[in-house]
Amino acid sequence: LHVVHVSVEMAPIAKVGGLGDVVTALARAVHDQGNMVEIILPKYSFFNMSPMLGGMQYETQFEWGGTTIVVQRCIVEGIQVFFIEPQNGFFDVGSVYGRNDDGVKFDYFCNAALEFLTCTQRQPDILHCHDWSTAEVASAYWGNYHHYGLWKPKVVFTIHNMNYGQMKIGEASFHSQITTTVSPSYAGEVAGHPAVNQNLHKFHGVRNGIDTEIWDPETDQFLPMNYNADNHEAGKRAARETLQSRFGLTWGSDQPMVAVVSRLTAQKGLDLIKHAIGHSVKRGAQFVLLGSAPDPRVQADFNAMAGHMGGPNAAFCFAFDEPLSHVVYAAADFILVPSMFEPCGLTQMISMRYGAVPVVRATGGLRDTVFDLDTEKARAAWEVDGSTDFKETGDQTNGFSFEGTDPEALNYALDRALDCYYNDKVWFRTLQERIMRQDWSWNRPALDYIELYYSAIRS
Ligand code: ADP
Ligand code: GLC
Repeated sequence: LHVVHVSVEMAPIAKVGGLGDVVTALARAVHDQGNMVEIILPKYSFFNMSPMLGGMQYETQFEWGGTTIVVQRCIVEGIQVFFIEPQNGFFDVGSVYGRNDDGVKFDYFCNAALEFLTCTQRQPDILHCHDWSTAEVASAYWGNYHHYGLWKPKVVFTIHNMNYGQMKIGEASFHSQITTTVSPSYAGEVAGHPAVNQNLHKFHGVRNGIDTEIWDPETDQFLPMNYNADNHEAGKRAARETLQSRFGLTWGSDQPMVAVVSRLTAQKGLDLIKHAIGHSVKRGAQFVLLGSAPDPRVQADFNAMAGHMGGPNAAFCFAFDEPLSHVVYAAADFILVPSMFEPCGLTQMISMRYGAVPVVRATGGLRDTVFDLDTEKARAAWEVDGSTDFKETGDQTNGFSFEGTDPEALNYALDRALDCYYNDKVWFRTLQERIMRQDWSWNRPALDYIELYYSAIRS
């Protein structure tokens, strides 16, 4: 197979959120199965891509949309990436998202990507586009490029978040051969949405994975000390002490550490995060928030809170800081993800790999990845086999979840989580070991995508 992704994000060089992680990791996983996978990306100057792009080479240039477009190529994380750079500076506007003309810019990028493919006579089997930002690939391909010569790739469109650009999403899911979204539960939640419900026969929910080479506490270069499932205590303590010194938290304390790593937007459950900070501290835990807030009002709000909450037990860091995020996952005993909705979510899977137990709201992909330790099933197994602790019987179980959107609902999960920590440290360590061994890699989901690529080709 020859697959070309068209995307506006790619980790680690151009990452805003999970979309960037997914494009890189899915491309790598499908490539590792013996396929040819390439990525087309805008060339941004504001990300400071250059340190990671030693071998950038000139590929081609062409006139398009009233300017010259230069295309360069480079291998990033083992994948061939083509960088589209219009010479009028159209992509150099300071950030990937957040301006009124985002739509015009992204449509322009998509058409330029298609133009690049036709003018260099590349003939991939599959064009894979992502979210509203590259939905135009599906529509423009159909409208403008469909009848060009023999070139007839099939288009696969993945919805990472239904809340932005719904008209574009509707058009792309109409024109693509296959539409996917990033978890089975979220697929069920949005199936009735007008943007997809016309095309349900070609709509699939495939759960995201995480890149287990990039997210590996055993080799992670950002950690003060590496560790693995067999031996995680010293490594996690070293990470915790790093955060304690950096943020002025009580040093060396073995209070449980609860953390949030998130974009601070309404989707992520801002009020519940605020509530959890106070509640965790009240229950004797330390709390670390690493949050990037695109809206300055949200940051001001949290800042005000930091003013009276910060101190020896709560730390706030308002930044997008990739290296620090690794240390936070390693330091934490619990990662909190109280999202209002969550198409998949990666932080709960990353946290498990680093031995931080997820406490999540049961929605979308969080429902498909976090299985509550106190489920009826685990209890029933306990009653049947008489095990001394029912939590040891449910092998799949790995965290704590809640359904409601009110503070009491969150308390219900967080209190159970903290009780487990306080009541039985030995058991808690075995739980950490178990979740570190669970498989959240792309191995399985990549095979699902490959199967969908073949079914798109047959369609
Ligand atoms: P979303 O894509 O909705 O933001 P995901 O859970 O799918 O949510 O992905 C979030 C990704 O972004 C993860 O890799 C997470 O570690 C990272 N991330 C989120 N906020 C920050 C931050 N403030 N600093 C560093 N990394 C962050
Ligand atoms: C979106 C969603 C998130 C998902 C990510 C990658 O940003 O908000 O839930 O994990 O895309 O698919």
